[in-house]
Amino acid sequence: MAVRNVRLESDEILRKKSRPVEVVDEKIKELVGDMIETMHKFDGVGLAAPQVGVLKRVVVIDLYDGNEPYVLINPEIIKTKGEQEVDEGCLSFPNKFAKVIRPAEVTAKALDINGKEYKIKGKGLLAQAIVHEVDHLEGILFVDKIIPGTMEIIKPEE
Ligand code: NI
Repeated sequence: MAVRNVRLESDEILRKKSRPVEVVDEKIKELVGDMIETMHKFDGVGLAAPQVGVLKRVVVIDLYDGNEPYVLINPEIIKTKGEQEVDEGCLSFPNKFAKVIRPAEVTAKALDINGKEYKIKGKGLLAQAIVHEVDHLEGILFVDKIIPGTMEIIKPEE
């Protein structure tokens, strides 16, 4: 596994639509492994493949709650419920945070690392992470959805 280069906000690839994965083969498994390592390296809660320059519908999420990272291949949101106002950031926007309205609950289906379909249901941070990452696969970024005037730029410590 290897840490991959994270594409930053001005990179046009972040605006492109990702293609479905046809077969969950060794190459996809390697991509998933690298994405998990990259997400952990930068303390991210989620990462989508276009953020490492790969236009494939692959997402990883880790809430650091003791559970294994979630792997969502070809994810589809099938149901959302309610809303929540949340603080949000993105590894492609390292110093920017803003408030966003996200669904309070999300149900999605996806393939796991073995290519098997499963359903994932999340509330709170998990719901937020699922919709944020699935947006990336459509070229949609959190900055498109922020509540006006809530953007904060936090300079990294020297
Ligand atoms: Ni993001």
